[in-house]
Amino acid sequence: LPDPDVAALTDADLDVLLPRPGNESDKYRRGVLGVAAGGDLFTGAAVLAVGGALRGGAGMVRYAGRPAPVAQVRSHWPESVVTELDEPSITRVGRVQAWVLGPGLGTDDWAHELAAEVLASDVPVLVDADALTLVARDRSLLWRNAPVLITPHAGELARLLRADRDAIEAARLEHARRAAAELGVTVLLKGSTTVVAEDARPVRVNPTGTSWLATGGTGDVLAGLAGALLAQGLSCYDAASCGAYLHGVAGRLAAEGAPLAAGDVATALPRAIRAVTSAI
Ligand code: APR
Ligand code: MG
Repeated sequence: LPDPDVAALTDADLDVLLPRPGNESDKYRRGVLGVAAGGDLFTGAAVLAVGGALRGGAGMVRYAGRPAPVAQVRSHWPESVVTELDEPSITRVGRVQAWVLGPGLGTDDWAHELAAEVLASDVPVLVDADALTLVARDRSLLWRNAPVLITPHAGELARLLRADRDAIEAARLEHARRAAAELGVTVLLKGSTTVVAEDARPVRVNPTGTSWLATGGTGDVLAGLAGALLAQGLSCYDAASCGAYLHGVAGRLAAEGAPLAAGDVATALPRAIRAVTSAI
């Protein structure tokens, strides 16, 4: 018998859940995503997250960061609205409907202050990569009223739960559930089997994907994509599961049985969206 506490998404679910612009839509109403990612060392994470968001259907992406990633984001994505930060504050960034926080951000005091400001906002925040390290050190960062979606791989979840990485790999569903309950957040646990857990909801096991996705930067694309879905009004649970699903379809389309680079996954996202929605 199927386990009632586990569910799988299908193309038909995606067709229902995915937002599409209506006649009355404009870029603001379609969803504005803020991206606080990248640092002087990791500029590519910012470029990939912004790419995932733009190709994932955000109406607008507002990027905020240090001078080095700002230059990269400006040249790769002229479509984005960029704020160069000389202090770790988002007060100069315009209104957004959701934030992506963490890929390539670093874990120094500057990153910590920026993370605290983003998490003090009143909109949903997707917490990934370096921001997960900051949260593992200081769980009080997560004490907020608006929703939080965390997107760890097994190593990052191990740090968050102070658990063993192999134990997590051996029981991914259970650990995702435990993290959701313990931290009061939605959990997208990435890896060979990606799962989404939220208290009082069935765990969603992602049926798409390919091991060609195991290459640097694909997680940053997923963060941007799922963030764009949050900004478009999906719940953390739906943004995480639709994001993982589309990311997996895009990975397969990009790879077709051969290597892919993370940017190719972002490039393939519109084709993935077309494929799952036109299959109906
Ligand atoms: N099969 C299918 N999908 C996989 C597999 C696999 N065997 N392995 C990985 N993936 C997918 C994951 O589900 C996820 O969507 O590839 C993506 C990898 O994301 P991350 O683990 O975040 O990797 P990456 O983008 O390289 O992040 C690099 O971020 O998490 C930090 O410490 C990490 O600094 C590093 C940076
Ligand atoms: Mg990552």
